[in-house]
Amino acid sequence: MSADIIDGKAFAATIRGKVADHVKALHDEHGLVPGLAVVLVGEDPASQVYVRNKGKQTEEAGMASFEHRLPAETSEEDLLALIARLNAAPAVHGILVQLPLPDHIDEAKVINAIDVAKDVDGFHISNVGLLATGQKALVPCTPLGCLMLLRDRLGALSGLDAVVVGRSNIVGKPMAHLLLRDSCTVTVAHSRTRDLAQVCRRADILVAAVGRPEMIPGDWIKPGATVIDVGINRIPAPERGEGKTRLVGDVHFESAAQVAGAITPVPGGVGPMTIACLLANTVTACCRAHGLVEPEGLTA
Ligand code: GUN
Repeated sequence: MSADIIDGKAFAATIRGKVADHVKALHDEHGLVPGLAVVLVGEDPASQVYVRNKGKQTEEAGMASFEHRLPAETSEEDLLALIARLNAAPAVHGILVQLPLPDHIDEAKVINAIDVAKDVDGFHISNVGLLATGQKALVPCTPLGCLMLLRDRLGALSGLDAVVVGRSNIVGKPMAHLLLRDSCTVTVAHSRTRDLAQVCRRADILVAAVGRPEMIPGDWIKPGATVIDVGINRIPAPERGEGKTRLVGDVHFESAAQVAGAITPVPGGVGPMTIACLLANTVTACCRAHGLVEPEGLTA
């Protein structure tokens, strides 16, 4: 193996430390406590784990955590009424509605009902537009985390060839905009891209966010490239015993690590950065709401 392993777990802990320092300063100097409200509708097991972790890490950083767990049958009207209350609550600086929502609820309608200034997921249509036009936005947490890892590893990204595999609204598209803003030459590839291998081979920066286990092998990677693997896929692992599973990314780690200059592992790469960036976005939203200086190194 030749690649350096990018330790997202350690980097996320550093970000959370910076967040906690800033939270303390906001409290000591301005009597402010940033608050994050998380809304979970229904009982999706993965979502429940995420929400629990978000609440725990929010409190560990010294912020206020407000959790709203609603039954799966909650009407769209009731959910919109809750969002209106959270929009109006001065103690709430960030609002996150955990996705996916049950089928009877219009996801876009709910997300666009969140106050743009409290949209710490960066999914509101106005934040999407602000990011796309290079204006000050709240930026989706996972791509923000990827950008932080890339800047930490590479310094300035200007002029580098970046290939983003995946075109989702949550990762692929905002990632492309962030890389463009840092003056990369950006290609967005996806499941219909012709000769995906050849497209990937020109990447100095390869971001994989397709949700297909180990789809990208080492021979698609340019020697020395920086590889950011956003995928978190659970696959059967019979070698660990009957019924056992393991987590893998969208990149075939063992072969990619022979070629890349640096690579994020799964787990322990991009994953821990997402909640760290959610906390960072909440502090940013709190500072903006009160006209205060934003935390350095915690925004895009
Ligand atoms: N579900 C999976 N990832 C996310 C995320 O980043 N934000 C929200 N709100 N829901 C999710």
